[in-house]
Formats: sequence, structure tokens, C-alpha cells
Amino acid sequence: MSTLITNIAELMTQDADRRVLRDAAVVIEGERISWLGAAAEAPAADEAVDAGGRALLPGWVDSHTHLIFAGDRTAEFEARMAGEGYSAGGIAVTTGATRSTGDFDLTRLAMGRVAEAVSQGTTYLETKTGYGLDVENEARSARIASTVVDEVTYLGAHLVPAGMDAEEYTSLVCGPMLAAVRPYVHWADVFCERGAFNEDQSRRVLQACTDAGLGLRVHGNQLGEGPGVQLAVEFGAASVDHVNYLAAADIDALAGSWAGWDPASGTGGSAGPGGRGTVATCLPACDLSTRQPLAPGRALLDAGVQLALASNCNPGTSYTSSMAFCVTTAVLQMRLSVHEAVRAATYGGALALRRESGNDVDGERAVGSIAVGHRADLHLLNAPSATHLAYRPGIPLTHAVWRAGVRAR
Ligand code: NIG
Repeated sequence: MSTLITNIAELMTQDADRRVLRDAAVVIEGERISWLGAAAEAPAADEAVDAGGRALLPGWVDSHTHLIFAGDRTAEFEARMAGEGYSAGGIAVTTGATRSTGDFDLTRLAMGRVAEAVSQGTTYLETKTGYGLDVENEARSARIASTVVDEVTYLGAHLVPAGMDAEEYTSLVCGPMLAAVRPYVHWADVFCERGAFNEDQSRRVLQACTDAGLGLRVHGNQLGEGPGVQLAVEFGAASVDHVNYLAAADIDALAGSWAGWDPASGTGGSAGPGGRGTVATCLPACDLSTRQPLAPGRALLDAGVQLALASNCNPGTSYTSSMAFCVTTAVLQMRLSVHEAVRAATYGGALALRRESGNDVDGERAVGSIAVGHRADLHLLNAPSATHLAYRPGIPLTHAVWRAGVRAR
């Protein structure tokens, strides 16, 4: 089955050459993109969709969410809006509610959040454990997550549960808990922050998870300067997320991890497989909801760091799955261009999940950009250009969504 989408006013590919095509068309065959180019030259297909002069983007790649939870933290949010600060301790409230919710309801809640995200143009999603915080509930969260999203991250090192010794809990995270979640996850994360895990504990978690064959990500430098960014680069993590409080040396370390990297060939960087460095993932909705300074996205890009934008959908610090809101904020308040912000929310997210490249042979198709052979994850806006995402803030602009070639909205 093939589908021709034609009469596209603006096709923002986010491919290696960052091409933007006018009066364009795209052909989907099965789950892959099989052709793109000028509408006048498009081949025939089994069905045709008239885009009506709208803009077509890659679907959003949301590389940082916490969707496996129950309960509500409205009161904490209200207190914050009245002037109280955010601290990691609120995680315990969600942990209590999550532990006392059965598998069926926890799965239903997560599926609802995924559906909400997809209806707004998100086509590839990561989510984390981290509201179980004991062996049984972390394994349960990982198992449920593996049935509802594309990529699962183990975040047993989210908070030391009340009454537990931090060193003993870290040993649990690095030992029996890691073994229990391992069948369901490809990634591991640690909340390296005051009030959560210190440098030594974070190092233990990152080493144990590396030894278990997991890719790494780090929650770092969210509430103050600290060792998170440097640790992420040292361990070759795929991303360090939050990055609100950065010293010059942190930006230098991130930029250094990308030195010489060539996106076309995927070679030249220093840190990770395929020459990739450590992506800085900015979470602007979280920054606003916690009244933290917005992450310095402009400075990071100018230094040569690869950037991702993600929703950080969670009940404590960022209860939204709207990637469009993140893009709008990145343009209006972080001083990214529309093209840069869309790139960070598509290709950048894919890079943070190391899914930006792939091929037709092994079926691990690239996501986050529109090119022949990539997964057909497409987002048609109800607007003639992507600029409208920032020009018309708050207006729901998703007109149609294809996820792996299937019409999802
Ligand atoms: O990414 N920072 C740590 N984890 C989440 C917040 C979790 C919570 O407060 O429930 C975040 O912001």
C-alpha cells in the first residue's frame, strides 16, 4: 500500500542537508518513506492525500518523559506558583500513588498519555521508570512501559526512598533492581542532583548500567551547578537532560564530545558509538513550571552542541506532552530559530535516542527526519509553514499524523 501526500507548501525534512522544499510531495510505502521531491514530479501511488498547501514536518521525537505514574500533584504545583521552590522530594508522592495502582490502571493511564501525545504530532516516544523505587515496582513499571512506548529507560536512581540508606539503595539499584528491569529496557538514567544522587552514587549507577549493556542518559544540572554534565560526557551518555545551570566548562565538555562529528557519515565525534557525542536535552515546559531559568539552548547551539527539546511529561515538574509548546517556548524565549527548534524536537530527539540513522536492511529505520528509507513519521500542520508554531502560540496546529506509515490522526 502506497500513499502520495501532495500539495505540501513547505516540507521541512530535517535531513542531513537540512533541506526545506516548497510545492513538494512525499510517498509512503508501508512503514517507510519511499520518495520525496517536487509535487510536479511525484510518482503515482495507491492513494493520494491533498495536503491543501499545508506544512509537513517529521513527527516530534519526545526523548524524555515519565509516563508510568498514577496520582496527582496539583497542590504541589499550586504551592510552587505561590512561591515555593521545587525539590526532588515530590517524587515520593507519585511513588506512593503508583505503587498502590494495579497493572491494568497503570497501563491504561500510560496509554492515554501516549494517545494524547500522538494526537499532537509525537510519533516516537521514550519513557522512564522511576516511580516504583523498589525491585517489584521498578520491574513492573519497566514492563508496562515496554508495551506502550518505543524506548524505555531505567530510572531506579530517581530518589532514595524515605527511610533507606542512600548507599544501600544505590547498591539495590546497581544489583537486584537492575537485573529485574533488564529484560525490558535499553537505557539507564540517574538523577544526579542535590537531594537525589551525589557524584559517587551516580558514578556507581552509570558504571553498573554500562556493564549491563545499557545506553546511558543523565538528569543533570537541573537545580544547580553540579557534576551531571561532566559525568554524562565522561561515560559517553547519549544525552544529559535539563542542563539549566551550566558552567563554561560544562558547555565546553558537551561541545568537545561533538568535535569533528559529521552527521552525514555519522563519524568524527568522540563520545559514543557512531561517533556521536552527548546531546543536551532542554525541557522548557519543566523550566517554566518549576520557575527555573530556561536552559541556555542558544549558547549550547552556538558552541556546537547538538540539542534536543523534549516535553518531560510527568506529574511533578511538567504535566504536558505538548512538543509544540516546547518548540514555541524555545523560539520565543530561548532564542532558537523556528528551524533550529523544530530540528531539536525531531532530529535532536532522535539523536538523543541514537535513532537518527538506520537503514532498510535491518528494519531499524531512522526517525526524526524525512528522507527515503526513514520511518514514515509525519506531522502535517494546519498552517502553511512551521513558523506558525511560534507565530500563533497556543493554537493547536496538528492537522494529520502518520506513525510508521499508519494514519494516527
Ligand atoms: O525530570 N528531575 C527529576 N525527575 C523529574 C521530576 C519528577 C517529579 O518531580 O515527579 C523531572 O523533572
